Formats: sequence, structure tokens, C-alpha cells
Amino acid sequence: MSLKEEEGSDTPRLNIAIDGYSACGKSTLAKQLAQELNLTYIDTGAMYRAITLLLIRNGKIDDLSHNVTIKELGLELVDINFETDQHNNRILHINGESVENMIRSMNIAKHVSNVAEIPAIRKLLVQLQQKMAENGGVVMDGRDIGTVVLPNADLKIFMTASPGIRAQRRLKQLENQGVATTLEEVKGNITKRDHKDENRLTDPLRKADDARVLDNSELTHEEQLKLVMNWVHQIK
Ligand code: CDP
Repeated sequence: MSLKEEEGSDTPRLNIAIDGYSACGKSTLAKQLAQELNLTYIDTGAMYRAITLLLIRNGKIDDLSHNVTIKELGLELVDINFETDQHNNRILHINGESVENMIRSMNIAKHVSNVAEIPAIRKLLVQLQQKMAENGGVVMDGRDIGTVVLPNADLKIFMTASPGIRAQRRLKQLENQGVATTLEEVKGNITKRDHKDENRLTDPLRKADDARVLDNSELTHEEQLKLVMNWVHQIK
């Protein structure tokens, strides 16, 4: 599909899938592309983080078994959606409550990969994500987007950056958000999550065969966007 065709209202709009390691800048790229191409940004990691928050609140976080059901977790009526605020940020709401600030804490980061390996939770969120993308026009980031959620995405990107750079970037981001932590703690968390995400049984983090690899260790935001926009323009 050409970008021109995409402007016609009858033509399905682009879907872009971004996967990759923890804290490698997926959401920064996704936001850049959403703005540049007028797409809707969907942060699937935020959805796993929000479910983690609910499980902490309802006291289920410490005894999660692999085959637990959505009903047993008390999640059968959960309502998850993104709303756009006045600054054009996409804010995650869960059961009507804005949880954006709460889901970035180190406590959520500690538990989220255990929650994300439960098949019933993945099934619930994957279905919801596919529904969000059914009319096209989304840029979605996560771990299984190119492989499971949007296997027919128009462009798939697999992102990475060196572990040291990722830890530094995440520390800075958390400090800006007022989260108290250290480089050691951030590094440890990133390493553990990557290992869990790559080795879980259901929908592990994996590069889709047709994904383009983007290592942004040495790239500025502008250089990264330029590179990816070249890929977008190559989509036929
Ligand atoms: O921002 P960061 O890269 O650190 O992580 P995130 O995108 O907020 O995702 C948090 C966690 O959710 C990941 O470490 C995965 O365990 C899980 N996740 C997943 O399993 N599948 C996705 N599509 C997105 C996130």
C-alpha cells in the first residue's frame, strides 16, 4: 500500500509492529511514527503493567500459577482502554481509572514479566490488542506484536540497543518521572525481564522472520526516525 492510497477513506491504513528488548526506546519510536504518519499509538506493555497493578491490589500477585484462569484472577469484567488527553498523550484507563503514573514504578517492573507469562492473561490482552488494530492505522509496541498480535503488519521493526545504554536511558526516564531507583536496580530489572520474556513458553520475545532490525545504540532520535521513515516509504 502506498502512503497516498492510505489517505483514501476506503483503503485500510498502515499497521506498524515494534518489538524488542526492555527499555530500548520502542515507545519513543512508536510516538514519533504515530505523529509523523497520523497513526494511533498502542503501548501493549502498559496493558501488562496495568493488569499487574490490579493483581497487586487484589492480593493475587504472590500466588500466580501458570494455568490460572481470568475468573480466578478476578479479571473477567476488566475494562482496559486508552484515552487521548489534551496534550495528545495516550493515557491508559483501567476500569475507568487513569493508571499511567502508577504503572511505571519499580514494583510493577519487578512483577510484570511473571504476569505476562500466564497464558490466560496473554490471550485476554492479545484479543483486545487485535480488536484495537482491526481497522488499521496503529503503531503498536511490545514483545509479540510482529509474531502473534499483528502477523500481517505492513512494517515490522525489531529494536535493540546495548544493555548499558538501555539501563542509562531508563534510569534517566525514571528519574524524570520522580521514581527513586539506582542504575544497579534498573540494570538488574532489565536483564531479568529480557531473560523471562525471551524464555517463556507462550508468545516469547522473538524477532519475526520478516522484521527489520533497528539497533539504536548510536542513533539520535532524529536519525532513528529518518531511517524508519525510509522503510515506511519502501512499503508497497
Ligand atoms: O518499557 P519497557 O520496554 O521496559 O517494558 P514494557 O513495554 O512496558 O513491558 C513491560 C513488560 O510487559 C515486558 O517486560 C514483558 O514482560 C511484558 N510484555 C509482554 O509480555 N508482551 C507485550 N506485548 C508487551 C509487554
